[in-house]
Amino acid sequence: PLETRCPPYPLRQHGGFWFSEPFLPAVAAARARFEARPSDVLLASFPKSGTTWLKALAFATLHRADHPPRGLDHPLRRRNPHDCVEFLEEAFASPAAKDSGGDVLAALPSPRLIATHLPYTHVPKSVTTEGTGCKIVYVCRDPKDALVSKWQFTKKRLAFAAAAPDNPPKPCTVDEMFELFCDGRCTYGPQWHHVLGYWEASRRQPEKVLFLRYEEMLRDPVGNVRKLAEFMGCVFSGKEEAAGVAEDVVELCSMDTLKNMEVNKNGTQNSVKNEAFFRKGVAGDWSNHMTPEMAARLDKIVEDALQGSGFAFGDTAEST
Ligand code: A3P
Repeated sequence: PLETRCPPYPLRQHGGFWFSEPFLPAVAAARARFEARPSDVLLASFPKSGTTWLKALAFATLHRADHPPRGLDHPLRRRNPHDCVEFLEEAFASPAAKDSGGDVLAALPSPRLIATHLPYTHVPKSVTTEGTGCKIVYVCRDPKDALVSKWQFTKKRLAFAAAAPDNPPKPCTVDEMFELFCDGRCTYGPQWHHVLGYWEASRRQPEKVLFLRYEEMLRDPVGNVRKLAEFMGCVFSGKEEAAGVAEDVVELCSMDTLKNMEVNKNGTQNSVKNEAFFRKGVAGDWSNHMTPEMAARLDKIVEDALQGSGFAFGDTAEST
C-alpha cells in the first residue's frame, strides 16, 4: 500500500493542514505549553526547503563570538545542524518531554534558536503574539524542488528504517508523490498555504518575521547572512566585515563543507542518516524528475492558490 511506501502515514488534517497522525499530540502540546522568551529565534520552514542550511547559518551567525566560524572545534564540525538546533514539535514528542511532562527546551540557555515545520497558524501563541519580542525566520523554496527533494529523502528514509535494510520496501514513485503533493497531502501540506501563512505574517509584522528564499540564498549567501544577522540583532561590525566573518559563516555552512564532515557522512538522526540532509542543494533539479506537464499542473495549482496574495515563488531578482 501507498502508506508504507510514502511515509509518514497515516496523515490527518487539522486546521487546514496535513500532519502525521501520531505526531498530532506533540503539535498540540507544543502549542499549549511552549513558553517563548523575548530573545528566542524560531527557524521555520516547510520540509525540504533549506531547513538544515538555515539552522547551520543561524547557529554559526548567532554564536560567532563564542564559536568563531574558522575555529577547528566549531560545534558544526562535530555535530549535525539538527543536533545544534532542535525542532520545537519534536521536543514535545520526545520521551524526555513525556516523562517530565515538561518542555525540554526550557533547559536551553538564552538566546535560544529553535526550529519548526509547523504552519504559522499552529505556532504557539507565545511566539506569534505581537510584542513578545521573539522572532521568526522563514525559508521558502520552489514547491517543485521541495517535492523532488522530499521524494529523494523519503527513499533514503525508507531504506534506513527498513527491517531488512538490504531489502527495503519499494518506495513510492515520483508520480505517486506528485499526486499526493498536488492534493496538499503531505506532512505540513499544502506547501503553498504553509508559505503563504508566513509570507502574510512577514508583511504584517516585518520586525517579527523575516522571510527568506532558498533560491536567493543560493545566489547571494553572504547578503542573506548579513540580513539574518541584522534581523537577529547581531549585525556584523565593521571589524568583522573587514575580517570577512560573514564569508567565513557561509563557507562553514556551505554544502561542500558540511557534506564532507565526518559527522554528516556517518552520523544518524532518529529516522535517517545525516548524509540524507545533504544532496544536491541547487535550484531547478525538479526538471530532472518531473515532466513539463507535471510542472505546469503544479504551477497552476499554486498560482491559483496564491492569487491576490502578492506572493510568487522564485528569486525576486529574476522577476524584477
Ligand atoms: P536537495 O534534495 O534538492 O538537494 P531540508 O534541510 O529542509 O530538509 O532541505 C533539504 C534540502 O536542502 C536538500 O535539497 C539539501 O541538499 C539542501 N541543503 C542541505 N544543506 C545545504 C547547504 N548547506 N546549502 C545548500 N543547500 C543545502
